[in-house]
Amino acid sequence: MQKWFDNQVVVVTGAGRGIGFSTAKLFAEFGAKVVINDYDADCAIKAQEELQKLGHTVLAVPGDVTDPAYPDMLMKKTVDEFGKINVLVNNAGYTWDGMIHKMSDKQFMAILEVHNIAPFRMIRACAPYMREVAKQEKAEGKTPEPRSIINVSSLSGLHGNIGQANYSTAKAGIIGLTKTVAKEWGPFGIRCNAVAFGFIQTRLTQDQESGEQIEVEGEKIQLGIPSHMKGMITMLIPLGRPGTPEEAAGPIVFLASPLASYITGICLEVTGGLQV
Ligand SMILES: NC(=O)c1ccc[n+]([C@@H]2O[C@H](COP(=O)([O-])OP(=O)(O)OC[C@H]3O[C@@H](n4cnc5c(N)ncnc54)[C@H](O)[C@@H]3O)[C@@H](O)[C@H]2O)c1
Repeated sequence: MQKWFDNQVVVVTGAGRGIGFSTAKLFAEFGAKVVINDYDADCAIKAQEELQKLGHTVLAVPGDVTDPAYPDMLMKKTVDEFGKINVLVNNAGYTWDGMIHKMSDKQFMAILEVHNIAPFRMIRACAPYMREVAKQEKAEGKTPEPRSIINVSSLSGLHGNIGQANYSTAKAGIIGLTKTVAKEWGPFGIRCNAVAFGFIQTRLTQDQESGEQIEVEGEKIQLGIPSHMKGMITMLIPLGRPGTPEEAAGPIVFLASPLASYITGICLEVTGGLQV
C-alpha cells in the first residue's frame, strides 16, 4: 500500500464511529498518525484501541467540537504529541430534524453550531500550525509540507431536504467556508475541499424506528430516517444502494492525498449518482 501520509499528522473530528472512524482508519493505513476526536468519550477511546491493535499511531482527544475552548486545546494537544498538523477533517455532526413551522431557534442554531461554527473555529485554531508554518517555510525558500482541510457537507446542502432547514443551511454554509479557505490559504499551498455525501449507512441514517437518540444540552434527539423513506431514497440512487462508511472515507483521503495536489475549493459529490 502507498504510504502517502507517512510522517504526516491527520486530525479527524467525530471519528469515534461512522464515516469519521473509517476515515481515521484509512488515513492510518496510508501511514498517517491520526488524532481522533469525538464527544462520545467511550467511543473515541474504543476507536483508538482498535486502531492501535492494528499497529497504528493514534491519539484520542475526546471533547465537544462546539465548546469554544476545545479547538485550540485539540490543536495544541496534537502538536504537543506529534509536532505538527498536515490534515484536518471536519466531520463531527448530527441531525436534529423537524419541519420549519415547528423548528425552534435552539434546534436551528445547534445544527449551525456543530456544522458551521465548530469547523470555522477548528480551521482558525489550525492557523498557527498550518498557515503560519507554511508561510515561514515559503519565506525560507523551502517547499511547504503537504497540508489540507476537508469539510464534510451533504446533498441536503446542495439541494435542500424536507425536514432539514437547519442541516441544509449548515451544509450549504460549509461549502462557502471551504471555498473561502481555499482562496485565503491557497497562496501558502494549503488546500481546502468539501465532500457532499448522499446516503451513507451509519448511525445517522439507521432506521429511525430503532430508537437511537443522542442528548444535546439536556434535549433527547431522535436519530435515523424512517425505514419507508430509506426504501424510497434507495430507489432514486442510480447505483441502487446506500454507500458504506469505507466508501465515504476513500474520497476524503483522496482529496488530502498527492493525487489531488492541484484540487482546491471544490465540493466532491459522493452519492452513488443520487442528484436530488
Ligand atoms: N450518513 C450519511 O448519509 C451522511 C450524509 C451526508 C453527510 N453526512 C455527514 O457525515 C458526517 C459524519 O456522520 P456519520 O453519518 O458518520 O454519523 P455518525 O453518527 O455515525 O458519526 C458522527 C460522529 O460525530 C460525533 N459528534 C457529533 N456531535 C459532536 C460534537 N459536538 N463534538 C464531537 N463529536 C461529535 C458523534 O458522537 C459520532 O460519533 C456528519 O457531518 C454528517 O452530517 C452523513
